[in-house]
Order: sequence, then structure tokens, then C-alpha cells
Amino acid sequence: MNIKDLYIEFFKNKGHKQIPSAPVVPENDNTVLFNTAGMQPLIPYLMGQEHPYGTRLCDYQKCIRTNDLDEVGDTYHHTFFEMLGNWSLGDYFKKEAISWSFEFLTQVLNIPVEKLAVTIFAGNEIAPMDNETKNLWLSLGIKEERICATKEDNWWPNLELPGLCGPDSEMFYWRSDDPVPDKFNPDDERWVEIWNDVFMQYNHNEDGTIVELPKKNVDTGMGVERTTAILEGKNDNYESSIWQPIIQIIEEVSNKKYEENQRSMRIIADHMRTAVFISADPAGIKPSNVGQGYILRRLIRRAIRHAKNIGIDINSNWEQEIALKILDMYKNYYKELDGNKNIVLEVLANEKIKFNRTLEKGLKEFNKVTASGQDIDGTQAFHLFDTYGFPIELTEELANELGLKVDIEGFKQKFKEHQELSRTASAGQFKGGLGGHGEIETKYHTATHLLNAALKVVVDKDIHQRGSNITAERLRFDFNCDHKLTDEEKSKVEQLINNWIKEGINVTKQEMSKEEAIKSGAECMFIEKYPDIVTVYSIGDISKELCGGPHVKNTNELGTFKIKKEEASSAGVRRIKAVLIDE
Ligand code: ALA
Repeated sequence: MNIKDLYIEFFKNKGHKQIPSAPVVPENDNTVLFNTAGMQPLIPYLMGQEHPYGTRLCDYQKCIRTNDLDEVGDTYHHTFFEMLGNWSLGDYFKKEAISWSFEFLTQVLNIPVEKLAVTIFAGNEIAPMDNETKNLWLSLGIKEERICATKEDNWWPNLELPGLCGPDSEMFYWRSDDPVPDKFNPDDERWVEIWNDVFMQYNHNEDGTIVELPKKNVDTGMGVERTTAILEGKNDNYESSIWQPIIQIIEEVSNKKYEENQRSMRIIADHMRTAVFISADPAGIKPSNVGQGYILRRLIRRAIRHAKNIGIDINSNWEQEIALKILDMYKNYYKELDGNKNIVLEVLANEKIKFNRTLEKGLKEFNKVTASGQDIDGTQAFHLFDTYGFPIELTEELANELGLKVDIEGFKQKFKEHQELSRTASAGQFKGGLGGHGEIETKYHTATHLLNAALKVVVDKDIHQRGSNITAERLRFDFNCDHKLTDEEKSKVEQLINNWIKEGINVTKQEMSKEEAIKSGAECMFIEKYPDIVTVYSIGDISKELCGGPHVKNTNELGTFKIKKEEASSAGVRRIKAVLIDE
């Protein structure tokens, strides 16, 4: 049985409800480009909001981390991974979390206790040394020498980032044929971390203060790829059953052996898998030069470059074959892969055609620029980007292979001169990080529901949400519509929303079954994404939507609504950017 199934079954037997994996592109959280951990979509609930499924949850969550994108190519870095997690929302705490982790590792995965070690929190000015967890591990049979206490490494996510946090306890497995040493040393790389139990009881505010949450939560995370490789005794993750089917296809389409082409094949396998999941996501991300679209573009283009490296005929259907394999491997776990199969194949084919047109010429240009052995300046890097579609990271990678440097700052300067760098593409957002849902975002969330309702009244009753994104500065709303809104339509929408705001209408929340919600006419973008019991937010009788919230209590909290921009988003889809002004 697959580790995902084993895990979910185990925690269901411990009273947990399985929740569906959230989309990989967060819907109302602009602090990250992608979900980076299982807890990310649960932030509002960890902060105290009630979850419709109750207080014990478990899932496998699609995660993408792009900080280490350029590291991919070794045995264990991946841009996409699946994270197993179980949560207590103010329900059980350390005792159950630790003993269930131990039971799952030793009884279900059959890992011998002798091969396990753990770290615990050593204490700091916020919280004391975690003796309770230490005693729990001891009582389960982990020896004292196999328990190591640290400060920095046992605080999740770390002591700097704002957002939810707390002390944690990490579990390690001895991955080596060497005899297991009695004493555990977390710096010895033969000990690999496989699971993390976070005791999430604090919120780290933006101003640096750390406050106790209303409830003590447990958040855990176990990486599917790493654990599977370990259980299968593989030191190279790509040799595990997770990657082998994909590697095999790459061997077939290239007619080359993995053993002789490891780095390029790993990059192709990893990047193609991530590209498949991003383009299958309900958010409808397409390759572009900003935000998630830029990551998607980089992944596909880097994969193409490495495909070329190992002699794959770029004009053949290689990328479709790899993608079909990936879609097939995961479709039983993620329904969107089946539903959006054609979109995925199209995105890959189109991006390949686009890049392919200039790749050859670009490589020639690159060779010309570097023929002298000189580093690449900003103007040259920008030329490669602008004319030949080389993402700056690709130029950098090619240059590194020759031992040359690229003037990234100079490139950025050129880039800025040519177009305003989109906010989301700016360096800060590539780094990721966790954040909360502030008061302003909450207001924009409610304003989004009003906008959805107003468009139906003013423009067309068949308008529905196609996408939404909220920052502290504005809301962005995508909807189906076959024409550019007229000035009259826009001002009517504004007027209607501002009237609703002035009327001071109550926003109410109800829980009901999914069927009931649909029957009652509640609006919903991706019905399959929701659990059987859903939360429905109503704004008087103006709007009714399936939604996780949070929302304001009354529309009179919103200020004045103003449309800043109305533009095309994609074929048949329009986009509105709007703000709330305090007046
Ligand atoms: N949120 C914790 C992690 O990502 C479990 O490690």
C-alpha cells in the first residue's frame, strides 16, 4: 500500500477526518506564491476559526518550494512534494501526537526503534525546555542518548518569520549501512529527518511580539518522497518507486541511461512533475514573466534545456509522454489532474513551441557573448531574456557551467527600465514565508463577495468567479464575461456595492452539507475541492457563497469601494482590480 493511504487510514482510525488537498496556488494569501506546507491552507483554523470538519484533521497536501529550485539535480531536492500531516485544532496535544507518531513509524512503517532518534526544544525566552516531550519519547522506548535538544532547529518555522509558530520535535531515521551509533548527532548526515511534530501555540506578530493562541494546536509534516525513498532503502530519491516510472519514460524518449545522465534526468523529472501540478491547478496559471507564471516558465524552459542536453529530439512528443505518465500516476489522488489533463498538455506544448523557436538562436547568442571568457553584463543578460526568452536563472546556470558570472543587479536594472516589475515577481516574494490574514485582507474578502454579486445584477446573472487574489492593497477578481465593461457598468457596480456597504448588512456564517449548500443556491467555484460539510457565508440576501472565510461581521466596516482597473485576463475572462478607501 502507498504511504499516503497508510497514513490517512492510520489517522482516520485515531478519530481524524481527511480533508482534501488545497490547490497548490493559495487563493487568498498573497504572502506566498505556492503552498509550502500542509498547514498553510489551515492558517485561519490554527488561528482559532472553527473548521467544518472538526478538531482532528489529516491530509496529504501538494506543496511547492522554489527557494532551492537551482539545487534540483542532486539526490533529494524537489520543487514539488507531497506532505502528509495530521492536526489537532485545540484538541489533543503532545502526548497523543508523540505516541501516534511513534506508533505509525514503528508499527505501520515497521521502522525498528534502534534506527530512530529525535530532537526536542531546548528552551528560550518564549518557552521553556520541552521536558514533557522528552519524557514521552523516553516512555515509548527512545533512549536518552538518542534525544537531542536544540534551540533554533526546534522552533517552527524559525525565530524570525512572523505567523504561527511553536516548539517542535523532529524524528530522524538512520539511513546507512554503517552500524547505528549509540549517540545521536543531528549533524551527521546519515541521520535524516522524516517527520516533524510542531506544537503550535503561538503567533509571531509583525511587530515582533509573540502571543499565545487561544488554543494549543498540533501541526505535523512528513515528506512523502523522502520517507518512501528511505523505506525502500534508496539513497537517491529518484531511484525510489515515486520517481522510477518517470525516469523510465525519460530514458525511453532520450534513449539514454539514467546512470550516465543523472543530473539532467532528475531536473527533467522534477520540473515536469511540478509544471504538471501547477498547470493543472484550478488557479489556471499559464507561463508568463511574473509570479507563479514565471516559476512555471522557468521550470518548463529549464526542463527543455536539459532535455536538449541529453539528446532528446525537442520536436518529438517527449514532454507529452512524460506528462501523461505523471498525470496517470497521480490522478487517483488529485482529481484536477484528470479534469485539466488537456490544459496541462496544451500549456507544455505551447511553451515548448515558444521557447523552441528561440532556444537554438539564444544558445548561439550565449556562446557568442561568452566566447571571450568575460562575465555576462546586465545588458547582455537582458537581451537573452527579452529576445530569446532565456529566464535570467537559465543564463546564470549556463554561465556557471562555464565558470562565469552574470550581473544580476544590472539585469534587474535593465528589466525595470523596460517594464515595471510586477509586485509579485519582486525578489521578496520568491522567498516565501508564512503570514496571517489581517483585518484589511478580511475586508477585501467580503468586498470580493459583494463584487461577485454586483456583477450579476449589473452585467449578467451568469457571471461567476474564475479566480481571486487578495493583498493588503487591493482585491483582484476574475470572472467570465464576453465583453469589456463599459464605464456605465463599472460605475453602476461601484454604486451598488457602496449602497450595500452603507446599508450595513450583516454577514452570517452557516455550516451545512455540500448538497444542501448547492441546493440553497450558494455559489462555489470548485465544488470538488470542498469537504462534505461546508461553510456558507451570506451577506443579507445579496450574496451566498461557499467559502472558508474569514469575513467582516457587517458590510458597514468596508469603507468605499472603487474599481481601479478592468481588463482582459484570458479568453472570455475579465479581471477587475479594486480597492477600499477609508472615507
Ligand atoms: N509545518 C511543519 C513543517 O512543514 C510540520 O515541517
